[in-house]
Amino acid sequence: MSDTKYVMAIDQGTTSTRAIIFDHKARIIATGQKEHEQIFPRAGWVEHDATEIWVNTREVVGQALGRASLQNSDIEAVGITNQRETAVVWDKRTGEPVHHAIVWQDTRTQKICDELGALGGGAERYKDRVGLPLATYFSGPKIRWILDNVEGAREKAEAGHLAFGNTDSWVLWNMTGGPDGGVHVTDVTNASRTMLMNLDSLTWNEEIAGEMGIPMSMLPEIRSSSEVYGEGRAKGLLAGVPIAGILGDQQAATFGQACFEVGHAKNTYGTGNFILINTGTEIVPSKNGLLTTVCYKIGGADAVYALEGSIAVTGSLVQWLRDNLGIISSAPEIEQLAASVEDNGGAYFVPAFSGLFAPYWRSDARGALVGLTRFVNKGHIARAALEATAFQTREVLDAMNADSGVDLTELKVDGGMIANEALMQFQADILGVDVVRPKIAETTALGAAYAAGIAVGYWSGEQDVIDNWAEDKRWTPQMDTAERDRQYRLWKKAVTRTFDWVD
Ligand code: G3P
Repeated sequence: MSDTKYVMAIDQGTTSTRAIIFDHKARIIATGQKEHEQIFPRAGWVEHDATEIWVNTREVVGQALGRASLQNSDIEAVGITNQRETAVVWDKRTGEPVHHAIVWQDTRTQKICDELGALGGGAERYKDRVGLPLATYFSGPKIRWILDNVEGAREKAEAGHLAFGNTDSWVLWNMTGGPDGGVHVTDVTNASRTMLMNLDSLTWNEEIAGEMGIPMSMLPEIRSSSEVYGEGRAKGLLAGVPIAGILGDQQAATFGQACFEVGHAKNTYGTGNFILINTGTEIVPSKNGLLTTVCYKIGGADAVYALEGSIAVTGSLVQWLRDNLGIISSAPEIEQLAASVEDNGGAYFVPAFSGLFAPYWRSDARGALVGLTRFVNKGHIARAALEATAFQTREVLDAMNADSGVDLTELKVDGGMIANEALMQFQADILGVDVVRPKIAETTALGAAYAAGIAVGYWSGEQDVIDNWAEDKRWTPQMDTAERDRQYRLWKKAVTRTFDWVD
């Protein structure tokens, strides 16, 4: 395959949208990036303006092409990866969203979830079919909320005028022409986050959609993660370029980390942390608070599944310290502030801002900073905030070990926070296993690029992904067992202080 052609990934994330161009060796050629507004209309509500996201997508693609001095014809294929669960509902006739996108972190659908659970089965009502507990995190109840609360939306939906999508579908539909023939498709990984897809047949579950009051006509067609869905159109973006891969961002990172064998796992440190362990073609139900989800499906091959531990707040806690408390002025400064003290000074910070996700699924939880004395200063708080990421990861790893019956021996990591050396060492210390960083840390975008490149024959398959993966750095546990156990015990105690906080 010629080295003069490239593959692009569009990474539509929670805080920003990026376009990254890769060459055949998976090296980054150019990047474009733009943040979008985080809208917090009320406590517990988080929204995005989907139109702003689409405008930014166009801009960052232009930035990346411009910086590399490339044209559309130099791009062999484009893959999309995205923040999952975030629900966009738009009018297919105009291309206008009927409401701001409701973000995965948003908790407004608690009542809807409770009502659905009360029909029988509680939080486990749909779990055997969709792999997920009833929780505010997932898309289905968010669609229901929009149809119930936006004037005229239900009538329009029933008349077949409205479309739903996670941001993958929204971007794809716009790229392929929007109201002028846009393709309304999603992939199996995104569909597996809606609470509406049967995990075994990979088709929409009409009964669940019916209970949630969601017309089937709103739902995108479910396709594999690696195939040509359509081409960019002149009225959209990247005219003539095949759009050939879609993976939810956490699944994309799992793919980009070459986690292709049963038992391979990765942890991505983004706004939240998401640990996925490959379970092969087997659908493994969790007894310990993990989600069962689709990991990827390459064209006509069988779907590969994963168990996932989702942690809602990790990197976004650092942003909160910056934006809401102002104790740092940029996110990387936290490392310095945390290094100004020797330890957490007894402070533990449980950032249950969106309730607690895995392994607790407690939507009644809210954040707590405990163990405070006059001794505690902002350095200790910074340290407690970073440590929260590592402790939450340990809780998920414990659940994974319990579910699989086999202890993980090392953890591959990626995402923004892995640049923080002290955090990575603490992570290895608290887990008691090695933490491994790859040379190419942009595994999310890379995973989507691979899915697209494989679909068009730019890469031959998974072996190319394995060949391109290389270890950069490894952190080995240094803390003694007694100290690890002491700190973890205090963390667990702190977690219990966040429960029952919602009236
Ligand atoms: O499930 C939410 C997840 O997909 C968001 O990831 O990296 O955009 O925060 P990120």
